[in-house]
Amino acid sequence: MDKKVLNGLLRPKSVAVIGASNTPGKIGYSVVDNLIKDGYQGKIYPINPSSPEILGLKAYPTITDVPGSIDAAIVTVPAKIVPAMAEECGKKGVKGFIVITSGFSEVGRKDLEQQIVDTAHQYGMCVLGPNIVGTLSNSDKFNGSFAPCLPLAGKASLISQSGALLIALDAATYTRKVGFDKLVSIGNMSDVDFADIVEWLDEDEKTSCISLYIEGFKDGRRFIEAAQKTKKPIIALKSGVSAHGAAAAASHTGSLAGAAKVYGAAFRQAGVIQAADLNDLFNKTQAFSEQPAMKGDNLLIITNGGGVGVLATDAAERYGLPLKFAPEDVQAELKKHMPEFGSAKNPVDITGMGGNEWYYDCVKYAFAHKWVDGLVVLYCETAVTNPQEIAESIKKAVVDSKVKDKPVTVSFVGGERCDAAMGWLVENGIPAYGAPDLAVQTMAGLRDYAKLHEKKASFDFKSNAKARKTALEIVAAARADGRNALTEIEAKQVFKAYGLPVTDTQLAKSEDEAVTLAKKVGFPLVMKIVSPDILHKSDAGGVKVNIKDEAGVRDAFKTIMANAKKYKADANIHGIAIQEMAPMGTEVIMGSVNDPTFGPTMMFGLGGIFVEVLKDVTFRVAPIADDQAVEMIGEIRGAPILAGVRGEAPRDRKALAETITKYSNMILDMQDEIAETDANPVLVYEDGKGLKVVDARMILKKK
Ligand code: COA
Repeated sequence: MDKKVLNGLLRPKSVAVIGASNTPGKIGYSVVDNLIKDGYQGKIYPINPSSPEILGLKAYPTITDVPGSIDAAIVTVPAKIVPAMAEECGKKGVKGFIVITSGFSEVGRKDLEQQIVDTAHQYGMCVLGPNIVGTLSNSDKFNGSFAPCLPLAGKASLISQSGALLIALDAATYTRKVGFDKLVSIGNMSDVDFADIVEWLDEDEKTSCISLYIEGFKDGRRFIEAAQKTKKPIIALKSGVSAHGAAAAASHTGSLAGAAKVYGAAFRQAGVIQAADLNDLFNKTQAFSEQPAMKGDNLLIITNGGGVGVLATDAAERYGLPLKFAPEDVQAELKKHMPEFGSAKNPVDITGMGGNEWYYDCVKYAFAHKWVDGLVVLYCETAVTNPQEIAESIKKAVVDSKVKDKPVTVSFVGGERCDAAMGWLVENGIPAYGAPDLAVQTMAGLRDYAKLHEKKASFDFKSNAKARKTALEIVAAARADGRNALTEIEAKQVFKAYGLPVTDTQLAKSEDEAVTLAKKVGFPLVMKIVSPDILHKSDAGGVKVNIKDEAGVRDAFKTIMANAKKYKADANIHGIAIQEMAPMGTEVIMGSVNDPTFGPTMMFGLGGIFVEVLKDVTFRVAPIADDQAVEMIGEIRGAPILAGVRGEAPRDRKALAETITKYSNMILDMQDEIAETDANPVLVYEDGKGLKVVDARMILKKK
């Protein structure tokens, strides 16, 4: 989206309020009042057909009556007249059309909403909303909303899909002492969406970190791409992760691909840090807006109390940042700044006697030491110390250390004096929390961010024209047959075209053909019914394994056919698959869904009971580069099984990663045709021996 247009929307130099009113309690009144009382320096043009003056400002009957140019129009008139207002604003050359009004797609009036967007686009105007609170910019003293006030000033900016939540957070910025520069309510996202504003905020010099409250993206893939390019940290709170997964699914993968998992995967790929809840969003925003990322794993904790030190140590392990003992030289130096009974190991316990000087000395030395990647400073209120003085000592030590590329967080545990001292710390750029685990949790977030960005994912992808041609022919034949699922043999042919290692599988239409093909495939082998009407082959008695000779093939052919007919008399039977019997290996599952928000999305996990019972699986949006595939293999709980446990040789994780990458390319390349897939089981062998897809399922998109 054009940057100039977005500038006009989010940092307007002049603004019209359409539906401005002299009646307190009306939104059209509040918006004008907010613009005036919060000190907006640009021109304000109230628009009202019957009032010549609103809140002391000259008002105009229509926007076209305004003499000068106008950057943004804030709309607070009822929904049915908003399209006409869009036309007038477009003609006037307005850049940003900010629609506070409700009553559009959220209540089924998508048509009215689309009409506004279409009109706006005719004139090169963009639409924010509808159904929003408005937009605020602290540095411009611009409160173009009906939120109560400008937020506490700070370096973060927030985009919220919920207007009510934005209002609530706005007021809470003062009590929580988390400052923001811009607050943007995004509502129905008819036009301007998260990706547009994220891209714009990335260039905004007043914003150092971007916080998001998301209910659902319209185009998840576009968000990932925008976030991947962003240089500033993004923290996202996603709500509504519980219901989505319940959608009926034809594949195993489909049944496991809930919104929580898919959004979580997408955020990782986008380099976005996820907040667990509102508190976490505030806490992380506070840390990310003031502190740099933590570039290594060495966390040092300095405390005056053993208890909070242990709590912080536990939290460090819980959030993936386990403590290590400080090196000898660090311990030796720190020992000089504590009583004899203190401990310099890590946590560094300067004891209840720890006063201003010891805090200062330890923080200054430790923060500057090359071993330390991040510092958490804890303090418990004592009678022999003054929290404010301790806070000032910590701040001075951080400044005097001259370190700017490492993060520090603080927790003071105590009463009002501690709260006041922490308030002072926060105002002075040091994130401070009322509980030690929160200081550690946010530090771990800063570490996660650095790790995510060490190898930021990219969405590079090239179509495989040859494989796609083969796959499309197979799909077309199935569709001509009136089917929306491929048979196992067809699915394997598609897999094979995309370079996936499938077991050799041939279709026999008669008993004699089965014998001929069996000799080609080689013994022992497996025979399976091939019928679009029998998806659960074993349940139908349609699978025979370990067939060793010709007699066995003839016998199995007859039995399977008889069983299939018994199971479903009118089943359309294509024949029987003669399949190489893959040697035993570690069972894994791969699969995919075409997620409504993110498109082709892949699942990987341990197979068999692990997927059935423990659901030990992980997701990524396709395409999945090799390093991302390696990450997937490493992050399932069962990863040690693939790495080799109890003297077993490690499995071929290199081949596995390559297969995941190829699989993800296949589902992306065929996304217009494929709805869901499963490769289950896939047998993984020892290092160097590769893997085999033993069974495959492919459901087509309904057309
Ligand atoms: N141009 C300019 N002003 C016009 C106008 C026009 N063509 N037509 C009417 N107006 C004026 C009205 O006369 C009125 O001013 P007045 O008080 O001087 O009479 C003003 O616009 C507002 O119109 P009104 O009909 O009184 O509407 P309202 O204030 O009761 O409600 C909305 C308007 C937009 C607030 C309401 O429809 C709405 O959508 N509310 C929900 C907003 C919301 O919650 N948003 C989402 C937050 S998450």
